[in-house]
Amino acid sequence: MQKILVVDDAALNRELLRDLLADEYLVDTAEDGEQALRRLSEEGPGMAALLLDLNMPRMSGLAVLEEMRRLDWTQHIPVLIISGEYSPEVENRCFELGVSDFIHKPFESSIVKNRVRNSIALFDYKKHLEQTVEEQAQALKQQKRIIQMQAEQLKTTEAFNRLMMEYRAAIMEMETRLQVLNADFSHAYNRNPFESIKSRLKSLTSIYEKLGRRGFPITVESIRENLTDVAGLRVICSFPDDIYRLAELITTQDDILLVREKDYIKNPKPNGYRSLHLILEVPIYLSNEKKHMKVEVQFRTIAMDFWASLEHKLKYKRDVDDADSIVRQLKACSDSIELLDIQMQAIRDRIDRSRSTK
Ligand code: GTP
Ligand code: MG
Repeated sequence: MQKILVVDDAALNRELLRDLLADEYLVDTAEDGEQALRRLSEEGPGMAALLLDLNMPRMSGLAVLEEMRRLDWTQHIPVLIISGEYSPEVENRCFELGVSDFIHKPFESSIVKNRVRNSIALFDYKKHLEQTVEEQAQALKQQKRIIQMQAEQLKTTEAFNRLMMEYRAAIMEMETRLQVLNADFSHAYNRNPFESIKSRLKSLTSIYEKLGRRGFPITVESIRENLTDVAGLRVICSFPDDIYRLAELITTQDDILLVREKDYIKNPKPNGYRSLHLILEVPIYLSNEKKHMKVEVQFRTIAMDFWASLEHKLKYKRDVDDADSIVRQLKACSDSIELLDIQMQAIRDRIDRSRSTK
């Protein structure tokens, strides 16, 4: 049975409340505020609720509440006032001090029973929620520590460093092949199919964050098997048709394997993102072996790249004012960019045609 404390200077009221609640709770009593605080401090968090009179000699109910508030006890014990006091100021003051309920004398037995039961149930529920949140926070902290430790270990292992060297080699290999195509193209047609290439090796932090998010183990084998974007290249082209021409030329090289293609140019993302993504496997030749490495290559036009870098900023910035309207504006820009890219391409074609007829 849960314990409750009834505080009232009138013996008759104490006995009345004890009789009323004794079949559901172990009822303890106190005659004034000082006794009440003493009992509460002896009992600690074991007390399920406090039924408190206001007008009492020596120490009033309000003084008890103020002291409980000072000691932060009202957070942990539901307090129900049972009083003949009808002044709204006093009643409001009690609520300010954190009481759960206010019952006026003379009281109706069944209502007192129900209100005590409700207040205790609400507090139990609140405590349960607080405990769950605390447990989850602890578990998360622990998980983060483990992931960090694993990442630290990974960083120092020889196998990890070697894998990163292999991905770096894959980036070099891929970049060279693209540069060769650019040179050949420029020789044949007097123009470059791409403007620039950017490359990056995924950072250790984002490697372990992505493995963790997708529920994969944090090991060297797992990186190789489960991540396709450790080696990343971005090829910025002037015109949309160059993107497809380059993609075709690179995927038909006989030692390159196309693992996956995501065409966000033909099927743009709802936010307006447009690019062609290829996951490729490219061979690298090491001193004593040949390995196939996965590389993510993103192709986009200059205008699409301009758009993506601005949109990326929005994604990583929290609490941006009026984010919804920015999202709409970005989508509209993306539509304009599609038109612009097509028009620029059409102009280039006209120039090329008039050149070839002269
Ligand atoms: P990630 O877990 O982010 O790698 O996504 P994914 O595995 O679903 O692959 P996806 O091909 O959709 O995206 C790969 C990469 O393309 C992302 O990491 C970004 O660099 C880029 N990207 C994809 N969608 C967007 C987008 O909506 N906006 C911007 N700015 N970049 C994007
Ligand atoms: Mg990625």
